Amino acid sequence: MPMDEIRFGVIGCGLMGREFASATARWLHLEGMDVRPRIVGVCDTNPSAIDWFAKHIPDIRLVTQDYRELLADPEIDAIYCAVPHNLHEKLYTDIIRAGKHLLGEKPFGIDQTANRAILAAAQDRPDLVVRCSSEFPFFPGAYQMGKWVTAGVFGQIIEVEAGFWHSSDLNPNKPINWKRRIATNGEYGCMGDLGMHVLHLPLRFGWVPRSVRALLKQVVTERPDSKGNMVNCETWDNAVLACDVQTEDQAFPMVLSTKRIAPGHANTWFIRIIGTTFSAEFSTKNPKQVSYLPYRPGEEQAWRVLDVPYESAYPTITGGIFEFGFTDSIVQMWAAFCDEVAHGSHMKQNFRCVTLEESAVSHAVFTAALESQRTGQTVPVL
Ligand SMILES: NC(=O)c1ccc[n+]([C@@H]2O[C@H](COP(=O)([O-])OP(=O)(O)OC[C@H]3O[C@@H](n4cnc5c(N)ncnc54)[C@H](O)[C@@H]3O)[C@@H](O)[C@H]2O)c1
Repeated sequence: MPMDEIRFGVIGCGLMGREFASATARWLHLEGMDVRPRIVGVCDTNPSAIDWFAKHIPDIRLVTQDYRELLADPEIDAIYCAVPHNLHEKLYTDIIRAGKHLLGEKPFGIDQTANRAILAAAQDRPDLVVRCSSEFPFFPGAYQMGKWVTAGVFGQIIEVEAGFWHSSDLNPNKPINWKRRIATNGEYGCMGDLGMHVLHLPLRFGWVPRSVRALLKQVVTERPDSKGNMVNCETWDNAVLACDVQTEDQAFPMVLSTKRIAPGHANTWFIRIIGTTFSAEFSTKNPKQVSYLPYRPGEEQAWRVLDVPYESAYPTITGGIFEFGFTDSIVQMWAAFCDEVAHGSHMKQNFRCVTLEESAVSHAVFTAALESQRTGQTVPVL
C-alpha cells in the first residue's frame, strides 16, 4: 500500500532547507513508516539557493521568491521554514494563519515578544501541528539518556550539565554573516542560535530553571564583510548559564553552555547527568558511545563506556553495529514531525519535536540570562 504523503513547502533554501530535502530523499532509510514528506514547493529570495532545489528535486511544482504563494496553495499541507531569526515572527504567524502545519527553526522568534506572537497565532489553530526543530535528542545515545531518566535510575540528582559547542568562529578571518548581527540573529546571540538544542532534553525531562546567573562573552569583536572591510560583530559568542532547578522531588544545579568559540569542537552537543545511584553522559563528540556509572553504597565507582547500537526512535534499515550521525538525526526528527502530523497523539513512539511551551520556556531562560548579564544578578525565569 502506498504511504500517505504530507505535501511540503520549504521557505528558506539555505543550509537547513537542503538538509530537509536530503532527509526526504532518504525516507527509504526508515522502516515501518506509513507517511512520507514530499517537497512540492520552494521559496527563497536568493535565486541561486532555489536553483539547488530545482536541480535535485526536478518535479517541484511551485518555485517562488514570495512565500505567500506557497501559503495560498491548497495543495501544500505543511511548511518547513528555515530563515534568519528576524523573519520568524512574521513568516511563522503567516504560515499558521494560512492553516499549514509548521516545523520552524529555532529559536522560534528573535526574542520573547516574537515568540509570544507565534504562540498566540498557534493557540488559535489547535488543529495544526506547530513544532520547533531540534535533532540531537534523536541520537541513540541521547535517546538512551531519556530512557534512563524515565526509569528514574539516577537516585538523587547531584547536578546536570548540557551544552552545544562550535569553534569555526575562532578564526577571526571568517567573514561576518547574519548570525553575528543583532538585527538578524537577535540580542540572545549564541543562546538564540544554539540554546534550544541544549534545553530540549532538560525541558522534556521537566527540568525547568527557576533562576539563572549568566556569564556571556564576546570573543571576536570584528570580522571582514564580503568586501574585506572590518565590521563590528554584535552578538554574544559564548554563554554559560548557571540554573537552579526544582522539580516535585528534586533540587539541583544545571549548567547550560552555548559556545560559538570552543576551540576544537566542531558541533559538540552533550548532556551529563550526575546522580547518587547512577550517572551518565552522552556527547556527539563520540557519537556511538554512551558512558554510565551505576553505583551501590560501598561499591566501586567505575565508568562504563558502551558502544551504543544504532537503535533510534524510528526503526531503520541500518544494522545495529553501524554508526549514527547528524544526517540520521535529521531524518529521525522529520519522522517524528510527520508521525505527529499524521497520527496526532497516537505517534509510533512518544518523543516529539520541541513543543510551543518548551520554546516559550527557552525564551524565558534567554531573556532572564540577558538581564543577569546586564545586572550581574541571579534572575528569576518568568
Ligand atoms: N537545526 C539545526 O541544527 C540548525 C542549524 C543551522 C541553522 N538553523 C536555523 O535554521 C534557520 C536558517 O539558518 P540557515 O543556517 O539555514 O541559514 P542560511 O543563511 O543558510 O539560509 C537561510 C535562507 O533563507 C533565505 N531567506 C532570507 N529571507 C527570506 C525570505 N523573506 N523568504 C524566503 N527565503 C528567505 C536566504 O536567502 C537563505 O537562503 C535559522 O533559524 C537557524 O537558527 C538550525
